[in-house]
Amino acid sequence: MEVMIYPTYEEMSREAARVIADLLNTKPNAVLGMATGSTPLGLYRELVRMHKEEGLDFSRVTTFNLDEYVGLGPQHEQSYHWFMHENFFKHVNIPPQHIHIPSGTTSNYHAFCEWYEKRITECGGIDVQILGIGSDGHIAFNEPGSSLMSRTRLKTLARQTIEDNARFFARPEDVPIYAITMGVGTILEARRLLLLANGKNKARAVAQAVEGPVTSMITASALQLHPDALVFVDHDAASQLQMRDYYMWIQQNKPGAPKT
Ligand code: F6R
Repeated sequence: MEVMIYPTYEEMSREAARVIADLLNTKPNAVLGMATGSTPLGLYRELVRMHKEEGLDFSRVTTFNLDEYVGLGPQHEQSYHWFMHENFFKHVNIPPQHIHIPSGTTSNYHAFCEWYEKRITECGGIDVQILGIGSDGHIAFNEPGSSLMSRTRLKTLARQTIEDNARFFARPEDVPIYAITMGVGTILEARRLLLLANGKNKARAVAQAVEGPVTSMITASALQLHPDALVFVDHDAASQLQMRDYYMWIQQNKPGAPKT
């Protein structure tokens, strides 16, 4: 695992965008795993800027989103379909048929989840999976107790997640309690993982994920099992990392990196 600590959210987002841009420059038909929520907004903004100002091309890119709320159609303003369209897809040139987001309104969740997994495989697997982290340590909607081998499926959200996400809804009771989500096992099959976290409210979850034991109670700790996991955090989110100085030392002395 490589932990990179940045002074600001903006800098963290820019560097994360650089990881995606470097991939697209070497593999223009890359498969990207997308996340929603407030964390990746800066990354999406930067990718859109690179597309508009520097010609970063997404025309051969395929995407798979991590999750979607059950019961919300694509036109619902709190659906992840809507989020992705408004914050990213409508600003870049990914062909609509290359975009995959779990359906929150399918009549057969089991069949849909199987199809989603099969589709990821047919497209050659995910090259980079972008991840946020919940304050309870979840990745995607793999709440505490989710098997580290889990696959795409229907999940009941934890109370903590419902409370955290209530800020996006008019009333707390409007937050759906089910979601369809890629499993931890599905996520671990991506060739590279890029987990982003900012803000003090993520500091505990980040420390548990990076330095705690690998446990299904903190599903982000499964990143420790992945051979190519990047963790990009701002100073606040890094504030409870015990080995913080060590990560910064490594970051500053990476072979080939410019000395600052
Ligand atoms: C969203 C997702 C979730 C979020 C997490 C953090 O697709 O998979 O795991 O990444 O809940 O959300 P924010 O970024 O809103 O704090």
